[in-house]
Amino acid sequence: MNDAQILRPSGQQALLIDGKAAAAAITARLGAEVARTGLKPGLAVVLVGADPASQVYVKSKGKMAHACGFHSVQVDLPADVSEEVLLGHVARLNADPAIHGILVQMPLPAHIDPARVIDAISPAKDVDGFHPLNVGRLASGATASALVACTPAGAMVLIEAAAAALGRSLRGMEVVVIGRSNIVGKPMAQLLLQRDMTVTIAHSRTVDLAAVVRRADVVVAAVGRPEMVRGVWLKPGAIVVDVGINRLVGEDGKSRLVGDVAFAETLDHVAAITPVPGGAGPMTIAMLMQNTFEAAKRAS
Ligand code: GUN
Repeated sequence: MNDAQILRPSGQQALLIDGKAAAAAITARLGAEVARTGLKPGLAVVLVGADPASQVYVKSKGKMAHACGFHSVQVDLPADVSEEVLLGHVARLNADPAIHGILVQMPLPAHIDPARVIDAISPAKDVDGFHPLNVGRLASGATASALVACTPAGAMVLIEAAAAALGRSLRGMEVVVIGRSNIVGKPMAQLLLQRDMTVTIAHSRTVDLAAVVRRADVVVAAVGRPEMVRGVWLKPGAIVVDVGINRLVGEDGKSRLVGDVAFAETLDHVAAITPVPGGAGPMTIAMLMQNTFEAAKRAS
């Protein structure tokens, strides 16, 4: 798929950035590489407890790993599992030569320290890109050796593809990342900085967020608040990547997914935007597969 193919009409001025199609192209390519090379990447996903949302995410990660021809294992542990037992599973997976990627699904129950668990994962198998060594490599610009967090890595692919399809260079452009989480906001800012963009990280304490967002040629919304970013905040012609996935329940009791951006308000003036669902979300799993494939290649 070339860059132009990820953009499709919205019926108004904005083009829609088709993350579902971009993710499908990436996973199809990985599946073909697996078939061609005979490499068997192995992904282990550890789920503690039975949170319904986490169960859905973990299941779709396993299904996609299978679809790519990977070896895929899921380790289910009870919600009251001790930290020591969980760390024992991580140590076993670290030592297993058939496993190249380990992902411990977050959030973990309150009695388990997530930092201890992340620190215990071998950096070479840390396909989430959460280990301090991978975080440090990304921050110091050693992207060739870093495993990069999947959601920002996927958003970066979409931003680059949208810019290329619109005939724009990202270099020197103003980008505002809304949200400063370790999982999305901070690594996203690092990736954008490496593209020579002028990066602002805005957050819940930012004064006059609307004015800050208004400056941006590119906006990445990762706050986790439904439709918080209004259409009038966005500069005409902006590229918008909405990382938020929020479930809203309507008066009829039916639920629907919305992003952090009030999507319908943007369509008459932004240049391109990711829909929710079908935008940044599918890219996260595709990048997890890519990281697992990369980890397997390095191990071989
Ligand atoms: N929970 C929600 N998103 C993620 C993710 O990307 N990785 C892990 N490990 N847990 C999550």
